[in-house]
Amino acid sequence: MLQWTRTWIIFALPSLLPLSLAYIPASPLNASAVETPSTQLTLTWGSGSSGGGYQEKVLYSLVGAESNGMDKGPLLHFSEANLTDATTTTPWIALISCDRNVTDASTIDDIFTLAWERGAVAALLYSLYSESCEISPVYADPTAFARVMDIFSTPTLVASKMVEDRYTLTDTIKYGTFDAKLLNDSFAEINAALSSGSVAPGYIFASLSASNATAGGPDTPSPANTTTEKPQGNDVSQGTTLSMIILYVITGTVSALLCSV
Ligand SMILES: *[C@@H]1O[C@H](CO)[C@@H](O)[C@H](O)[C@H]1NC(C)=O
Ligand SMILES: *[C@@H]1O[C@H](CO)[C@@H](O)[C@H](O)[C@H]1NC(C)=O
Ligand SMILES: *[C@@H]1O[C@H](CO)[C@@H](O)[C@H](O)[C@H]1NC(C)=O
Ligand SMILES: *[C@@H]1O[C@H](CO)[C@@H](O)[C@H](O)[C@H]1NC(C)=O
Ligand SMILES: *[C@@H]1O[C@H](CO)[C@@H](O)[C@H](O)[C@H]1NC(C)=O
Ligand SMILES: *[C@@H]1O[C@H](CO)[C@@H](O)[C@H](O)[C@H]1NC(C)=O
Repeated sequence: MLQWTRTWIIFALPSLLPLSLAYIPASPLNASAVETPSTQLTLTWGSGSSGGGYQEKVLYSLVGAESNGMDKGPLLHFSEANLTDATTTTPWIALISCDRNVTDASTIDDIFTLAWERGAVAALLYSLYSESCEISPVYADPTAFARVMDIFSTPTLVASKMVEDRYTLTDTIKYGTFDAKLLNDSFAEINAALSSGSVAPGYIFASLSASNATAGGPDTPSPANTTTEKPQGNDVSQGTTLSMIILYVITGTVSALLCSV
């Protein structure tokens, strides 16, 4: 039904909506975040000495129509590039870059609907060259688009890089990109982890909790400490510098990370 509503709107407003609708209905933004980030993002991975965690306040960019303010699942990169129709019933959270639309993007669906149709329960937007991401006003209008799920955005470039770097600099993480078959194969493990508050091996688990969340749910294992550290300037957009790579490699645990930054 949601699909039908959206399609109908797209056909009904051909002159208002450009053909390139295929797309990420969000764009990178440098102005300091309009609102105060109020939602708590908690990432956890691995276990024991190979485990770690990271916490950050993020922006609640779009409230899903049926949201209770709490979303949990493995955090996986998602883009329209090379996307198949494969779906999964395992809950997961889509990590979506707002930096650019892919060139061969579909002309019908927006990226959030594509992720939602493939089983995503929420999305986290990030930019690797600007501070944050902003949802297009048209997309945020509930009379034009169904709010299929909660959408959050990292509030700073540093936070985005912290999240992104976890995938390459933490060797306990094997799965970084959405793969329906892999998620199906991990169905039991992931659901067990979600109900016990632990982490399925190989994944980064994300928990997003709005300040007005009505669902409590089991707490995710508390990470060693919270990092809201100041960047060494905002010019890390050209990719992780060598010194940062070395820093991150050395600092396997969050506490070590804290000391070094
Ligand atoms: C939380 O607050 C947002 C924004 O004020 C609102 O749209 C949403 O419905 C609230 N969620 C709950 C579960 O009350
Ligand atoms: C998509 O496929 C092309 C060609 O096979 C490959 O070069 C590219 O890395 C793929 N992109 C993603 C996001 O997997
Ligand atoms: C992607 O395309 C949509 C529709 O044209 C546009 O609103 C949005 O700003 C674009 N996003 C980026 C990152 O270019
Ligand atoms: C944000 O600032 C960075 C660094 O100054 C710049 O490279 C980037 O293009 C800017 N992004 C936008 C959306 O203007
Ligand atoms: C994953 O499991 C669901 C439910 O059994 C099924 O509909 C879907 O096709 C499966 N996806 C893949 C890629 O096997
Ligand atoms: C986190 O670090 C702060 C400042 O160093 C400290 O006050 C706080 O007790 C630490 N919290 C935990 C859970 O270790």
